[in-house]
Amino acid sequence: MENRSLVTIAKHSKEKILYMLDMAKEFEARPNRHLLDGRVVATLFFEPSTRTRLSFETAANRLGARVIGFTDPKATSSSKGETLKDTIKMVSNYADIIVMRHYLEGAARYASEVTNVPIVNAGDGANQHPSQTMLDLYSIYKTQGTLENLDICLVGDLKYGRTVHSLLMAMRHFNPTFHFIAPKELQMPEEYKIYCREHGIRFEEHTDFTEETINRADILYMTRVQRERFTDLMEYERVKNVYILRAKMLGHTRPNLRILHPLPRVNEIAYDVDETPQAYYFQQAQNGLYARQAILCDVLGITLDDVRRDTIQ
Ligand code: CP
Repeated sequence: MENRSLVTIAKHSKEKILYMLDMAKEFEARPNRHLLDGRVVATLFFEPSTRTRLSFETAANRLGARVIGFTDPKATSSSKGETLKDTIKMVSNYADIIVMRHYLEGAARYASEVTNVPIVNAGDGANQHPSQTMLDLYSIYKTQGTLENLDICLVGDLKYGRTVHSLLMAMRHFNPTFHFIAPKELQMPEEYKIYCREHGIRFEEHTDFTEETINRADILYMTRVQRERFTDLMEYERVKNVYILRAKMLGHTRPNLRILHPLPRVNEIAYDVDETPQAYYFQQAQNGLYARQAILCDVLGITLDDVRRDTIQ
């Protein structure tokens, strides 16, 4: 049986991405449907989350599914030494989809290899966050009217920020120009720069976060410095406030510029930016509901036609 898991965005073709965005658009028009009646969605969160877990659970509820799961692995038998493999095999006895966030890179891939139940990667360490990428792409498409030929600044923690890793992989289909803006300690890892070179993705690296760069951008994608991934907290203290976006830096931007952030933010976007027309990060999080409804349907083999007909075969 085909395993329809969503482990990495890299597996999606351009056509598949555009198809998923069409499905998200259907759900935005009408979120409440009965496409998952009788299904059970498990949300296994080995790391903290607000948006990803709650939007997946809302997506499941709005589609008629029931939700089981945990947010505190210490309250599960993994604290007694149960392996991830055994946990996944157990939950597969109960659920039709497993949405999992885990602190280990590769955990979602591993989980998908030990079960036939579709796994949705809700973030695996500093590796990938493909459902975030679907909502990021949906947000970019909605605000720019296209995914093609965009100038995109990725700002902040490009080393540990899994959302930027997934986003650049997905954008390979759309001829972007990236600006990687990070202090030297948090630069984009070499493996992703190699990926860009292999896929013809243009990128420039900067350590300064200047208005000149902001003014050329279509998308300014801010990220949090990921304190939880540092082994040396002194290093975190040195870089934690390295870039702070303020409203006064947005006086000469392109009219279509939109500011995205996967959230949560810490200090990297000042509160005065929230009131500017360029701020889009809260709407971006709302788009996550529709993108994740599309993902839950897709991993179960429910098609765009099914969604449009509002039936399942
Ligand atoms: N963007 C994101 O993954 O947010 P949470 O950590 O709150 O789920």
